Amino acid sequence: MPIVGYYNGQFVTPNSGIVPLDERGHQFGDGVYEVIRCYGGRAFLLDWHLDRLWMSLQAIRIAPPFTKDECATLIERLIVESGELEASIYLQITRGSAIRNHLFPNPAVKANVSATVRPVASQIAKEPGTLLMMADERWANAWIKTINLLPNILAKQTAHDMGADEALLVRDGAMIESASSNLWFVRDNQLITAPADRYILNGITRRFVIQLADRLGIPVRETKLPAKDLATVDGIFITGTLTEVFPIHRVLTHPDVPYVSLPDVTGLQQLSADKCQVAWEARDLSLVGRLQSAFADAIATFAKSDR
Ligand code: PDD
Repeated sequence: MPIVGYYNGQFVTPNSGIVPLDERGHQFGDGVYEVIRCYGGRAFLLDWHLDRLWMSLQAIRIAPPFTKDECATLIERLIVESGELEASIYLQITRGSAIRNHLFPNPAVKANVSATVRPVASQIAKEPGTLLMMADERWANAWIKTINLLPNILAKQTAHDMGADEALLVRDGAMIESASSNLWFVRDNQLITAPADRYILNGITRRFVIQLADRLGIPVRETKLPAKDLATVDGIFITGTLTEVFPIHRVLTHPDVPYVSLPDVTGLQQLSADKCQVAWEARDLSLVGRLQSAFADAIATFAKSDR
């Protein structure tokens, strides 16, 4: 199947070079996005994604170029064009194209809408993963789903370089999120996850798992868990649109991480994975397994349900 791209009303191949150089997303990262999962040819939790997209647009003062219904229709059309049943839809809206200037274009220009649809496979069967603990160096508005992801990218790449799957981000002494997923702890048969304040992205999967836990009778505490309490935790998992519910069996630390605040940034390349230390190992991931199965069941039901 062809991978579908979309730019301002046209269906294109993703690398067709259609974005102008004076595009504010391209030059400033001046835009917002959503990643939506398609199961069985249908966009999962689409209304929640659209509500969050509208919140992000409002937060950075971009006028939506269409209504939510028109946006939903576009997403459905993209899925049909792709012919995919299991796919990831990336949708980006930027402030538009104008000669480079930090000030918003005046008069305002129309926002640019771009999208891609790509096939993806479920993560559910993957083996438990590893996190690398590091300082959260993002700005104080992580709740906005902006395309400015440099701190997230550096954090996740560092985690990968050290042999981990994801970063465990610590802000003000608390373990609040991962670089591209929400972070959860299991302790005494309860789930703990950071509250959806300005410092984390209120994940759509996070919201769904809160509902799922409620249905399963598993208590959820939305509170910030101090990094010093890591040893008290029985299990960890991360959630996200593409990550789904992913169990974690190990947390690493590294003596030279956090690194971006170090004066010698060239030191970045010299990090050695040999220096990583195991800070935590899972005691019990059975509750995470239960949630994973419930999540898989919910998806299967959704994928089969009537349109
Ligand atoms: N990332 N936290 C961060 C920083 C994220 O980037 C994401 C998702 C999440 C999980 O949110 P949701 O459940 O709504 O996907 C949490 C997406 C998928 C990405 O950037 O590719």
